[in-house]
Amino acid sequence: MSNILCIGAGYVGGSTMPIIASHCPEHRFVIVDINEARIAAWQSDHLPIYEPGLDEIVRQTLGKNLFFSTEINRNIAEADIIFVSVNTPTKTFGQGAGRAADLQYWEKTARQILENSTTSKIVVEKSTLPVRTAEAMERILNSNGNGLHFDVLSNPEFLAEGTAVRDMQNPDRVLIGGRETESAQKAVATLVELYMNWVPRERIITTNLWSSELSKLVANAFLAQRISSINAISALCEKTEADVSEVANAIGRDERIGRYFLRASVGFGGSCFQKDILNLVYLCEYYGLPEVARYWEQVVKMNEFQERRFAANMVTSMFNTVAGKRIALFGAAFKANTNDTRESPALEVCRALLEERADIVMTDPHALDNACYDLGDLGKRVTFEPDPYIAADRAHAIAILTEWSQFSELDYERIYASMVKPAFVFDGRNLLDHKKLYEIGFNVYPIGKAPLTRLVANGSHG
Ligand SMILES: NC(=O)c1ccc[n+]([C@@H]2O[C@H](COP(=O)([O-])OP(=O)(O)OC[C@H]3O[C@@H](n4cnc5c(N)ncnc54)[C@H](O)[C@@H]3O)[C@@H](O)[C@H]2O)c1
Repeated sequence: MSNILCIGAGYVGGSTMPIIASHCPEHRFVIVDINEARIAAWQSDHLPIYEPGLDEIVRQTLGKNLFFSTEINRNIAEADIIFVSVNTPTKTFGQGAGRAADLQYWEKTARQILENSTTSKIVVEKSTLPVRTAEAMERILNSNGNGLHFDVLSNPEFLAEGTAVRDMQNPDRVLIGGRETESAQKAVATLVELYMNWVPRERIITTNLWSSELSKLVANAFLAQRISSINAISALCEKTEADVSEVANAIGRDERIGRYFLRASVGFGGSCFQKDILNLVYLCEYYGLPEVARYWEQVVKMNEFQERRFAANMVTSMFNTVAGKRIALFGAAFKANTNDTRESPALEVCRALLEERADIVMTDPHALDNACYDLGDLGKRVTFEPDPYIAADRAHAIAILTEWSQFSELDYERIYASMVKPAFVFDGRNLLDHKKLYEIGFNVYPIGKAPLTRLVANGSHG
């Protein structure tokens, strides 16, 4: 039996470790965090994150071979393997502000591991980190002078929020990076063995440390790039009456392109894509590759353009003013099936409309608390309403900002009847049946397709 510790009980630590624990009943898992409220919530009936299927797994393992705790030092001392999944946000100050990763939480953790260790350990980077971070961490950890040895491995997490359980249960691949030394290779073998409890060996990739660290940044950059690519084309479609869904289908049938991640939308969000690309941009600059930096930076700029364009289109379409108009934002989470609102396009659209002095009501099945928190002071100017029918009542417009399936199942005749006319739907996720909405009486503005509007001045269908 090994004692396995995870430092950081956030989206990554909190969703991966219970699943690993469920497959490895012979090992004891502890997840620690400095956030006491979060640790208490993991042990309650209301987990701090919403992730389909996770409650069940936490219930099965909690108290058996999975424990949550705020006693970080004692648990470090007892651990054989330590996963670190603390946050690595974009730096907001000093050198590299706005682009580089803020490694202060990681470094503090490394020092804490060093101070509290009395035996040698394997330390696993689960957080997403700039390439070559492990080098600095190894230096800190192995500066102990008391004969202890730490092997730092990279094991980036590829799960997607909303499908974290499925992704963890059946991963496309698990990536483990380690140095070429005998001791590091032994550590890699230990981690491979842990994953082999449920992941077929051929899906476990072992690489050098730097390839592993860099692959995580590159994976997110490529995924975000596809979204920005199709969103760029959606803007052109709106000008030319091409239909972005038809274009996506036509190009996606080409095996070399593939059909995934070609859905045009109001933009990507989440805590990772923007942060990781900016980090990649910073690394390219640091290593003297400004052309490569500019290339990837454009993926983020295109996303910002798409969010701004969506909000501006709402204002223009509603006779150039939304001041004092009630607008119902359907969705706050950055994607469906999560309560995570970090960098959510919904919040960007909300901010832009508040600037235009709209009267905003926001609805979401799981993410309203986080949205209110993330909006800070602006949150006081927003009404948070869990019931979409109440949110839409007396509204001039609805904007679909998260692709929750619940929103496609609503009674839009009832919603239309309760709204101010002319009633507008701006579908930032191309989620709804646009033709049906138009037939009900709505003026419908999808992404990357001609609007269906009865307003003669605007309309191609007027
Ligand atoms: N969210 C995702 O979908 C996702 C996917 C893959 C990788 N990642 C990466 O994983 C890392 C964590 O992401 P997250 O979404 O879980 O972040 P998060 O903010 O939800 O969780 C991080 C947790 O670490 C805790 N923490 C910070 N410093 C600590 C310390 N010194 N000791 C103990 N706990 C500490 C925080 O209190 C917080 O609860 C990031 O590097 C992120 O880029 C995230």
